[in-house]
Amino acid sequence: MDNFIYYNPTRLIFGRNQVQEHLVNQLRPLGKKVLLVYGGGSIKANGLYNEVLSILSDGDFIVYELPGVEPNPRLTTVYKGVNICKNEKIDVLLAVGGGSVIDCTKAIAAGAKYNGDAWDFITKKAPVQSALPFGTILTLAATGSEMNAGSVITNWETQEKYGWGSPYTYPKFSILDPINTLTVPKNHTVYGIVDMMTHVFEQYFHKQTNTQVQEYMCEAVLKAVIEAGPKLVNNLNDLELRKTILYSGTIALNGMLQMGVRGDWASHNIEHAVSAVYDIPHAGGLAILFPQWMRYHLDKGETKLYNLAVRVWGVNPEGKSNAEVAEEGIKELEKFWSLIGAPNRLADYEIDDSKLEIIADKAMINGEFGNFNKLNKQDVIQILNASL
Ligand code: NZQ
Ligand code: ZN
Repeated sequence: MDNFIYYNPTRLIFGRNQVQEHLVNQLRPLGKKVLLVYGGGSIKANGLYNEVLSILSDGDFIVYELPGVEPNPRLTTVYKGVNICKNEKIDVLLAVGGGSVIDCTKAIAAGAKYNGDAWDFITKKAPVQSALPFGTILTLAATGSEMNAGSVITNWETQEKYGWGSPYTYPKFSILDPINTLTVPKNHTVYGIVDMMTHVFEQYFHKQTNTQVQEYMCEAVLKAVIEAGPKLVNNLNDLELRKTILYSGTIALNGMLQMGVRGDWASHNIEHAVSAVYDIPHAGGLAILFPQWMRYHLDKGETKLYNLAVRVWGVNPEGKSNAEVAEEGIKELEKFWSLIGAPNRLADYEIDDSKLEIIADKAMINGEFGNFNKLNKQDVIQILNASL
């Protein structure tokens, strides 16, 4: 286990009726002029928009709005938000939506305090030195963005999609009421389940030793999601299952699972390159790529894959080699994701081999990557080929 400092400044407010209870008292100390950031209309359809506006109006806040944040949020939308913040002297931002809305809000918050092009810090050419404060009301269990400092932004003109983050881009608070996730349709519920599982995998595969606590914690989150996920997909209105999945998504990527370890994150890097070129849902890409990344690491990752197979998937190891057990675990994962309705081939998105070189080049933009095992361009192409 490496040395580490764990500090997460986000106040997590979880449970029923917490928006009514806490939105005003959380926002008040941060300012009066609020930029409300949201997506393509789901919060208008389910009534959350009206509820939030009425709370803000009762609290005498001055509200500006940035609607229309896209899934895989675009740089152009970040620019729009930054302009509103600068022109209207916004004090605080409020993201109401899924990971895309929150990620976009993070980039706007940092961009509003930066005298230059927000793309500079997204591409890590400039450091983030400050950001406007922001809070979130999460409506979709998936990314963990509600309690981490990361953000992923797409520049559609140049077909680039990058993750970035800074100590200044943690939400000040995030309010998670499971009722606000009840209207998430089946496909996005499935993507959310896949995404949070892959976050756990990314942190499970690392090179550090003496990390039993971290590994058992990862396995516990996976087991809870594997138990609740299919039940939820078959009963989208079950509030208790929504609650379990909502909490899992946050725990999966709020830093708790990666204390003292350096997670791999190669599969996420490859997926971001795929969805920069094809604009597919983030977790759809991961459901296809991750099993192939695992298979590509059957030798190096045998012990971890063996543990996952036996301890998480319940594979019986008797009479089998370690490699056979590990492979059986990967097959269980593929079976599970297929069962809940996730894609398993790039062909499901009509992606063929014509742009694999372009995708691999985008993934390689900062050179070899992956903390568990470094991948070069040939490795990436092989994983992509196996995913066709
Ligand atoms: O735009 P609206 O109308 O709100 O609809 C959204 C969107 O179409 C809809 N939705 C959200 N809440 C809903 C709802 N529909 C009905 N009822 C609700 N309560 O769901 C669709 C997908 O939303 P989106 O925010 O795009 O999904 P997600 O939360 O999965 O976020 C995906 C983005 O996050 C990035 C991904 O790359 C992708 O761009 N990631 C961010 C991470 C982070 N910041 O830590 C880590 C992740 O690995 C990921 O890369
Ligand atoms: Zn993810």
